[in-house]
Amino acid sequence: MKNIVILISGRGSNMQAIVDANIAGACIAAVISNRPDAAGLAWAAERGIATAVVDHKAYASREDFDAALAQVIDGFQPQLVVLAGFMRILTAGFTRRYEGRMLNIHPSLLPAFPGLHTHARALEMGCKVAGCTVHFVTAELDHGPIVSQGVVSLLPGDTPDSVAARVLQLEHQLYPDAVRRFVADELNIIDGRVASPDQPPGSLMAPAP
Ligand code: GRF
Repeated sequence: MKNIVILISGRGSNMQAIVDANIAGACIAAVISNRPDAAGLAWAAERGIATAVVDHKAYASREDFDAALAQVIDGFQPQLVVLAGFMRILTAGFTRRYEGRMLNIHPSLLPAFPGLHTHARALEMGCKVAGCTVHFVTAELDHGPIVSQGVVSLLPGDTPDSVAARVLQLEHQLYPDAVRRFVADELNIIDGRVASPDQPPGSLMAPAP
């Protein structure tokens, strides 16, 4: 069994998709939020999953917050830490501590559009596709070895919200699948890239428009 700790800041729909996937060999050990009012906490608690809050506002610096967060995370002895809409910039020390065992999902086709407002920026640039990326977390924000990507076409009349809704559906398939592959030891990082010689299904998801 691999213990998984999921970090959220809000509604936690990706966390829900991962929990609902009932991944063989995975135990969702805890859901932790930096915001006491994160809606996903109640959802997890209702299902008997341990929850915790480490409120970033209670700490004077990023280093102090990350140290406190790491202490709570490590109490659950996770083999994998999953960032699921966790809206904090992490210190290099924190990312180093969980190197090779911390995943994130980002709503763009990285390396394009790291940071916020990804869909609005893709529309503004006249991109023809948008999407999401599951990647291992490194010190650089929204970088790190790419596990899988989902692509949607941008359609006439699209708004950031309509794109977000379509991409979110993909996220809910892509992220549980990436976690499943991590748990099955299928994700090897070689030379800073996730080795997938035979492109296993799930590395790319591109539904027809
Ligand atoms: C998702 O769009 C994810 O890609 C981004 O934040 C959002 C989180 O949504 N990192 P949810 O909390 O999982 O519903």
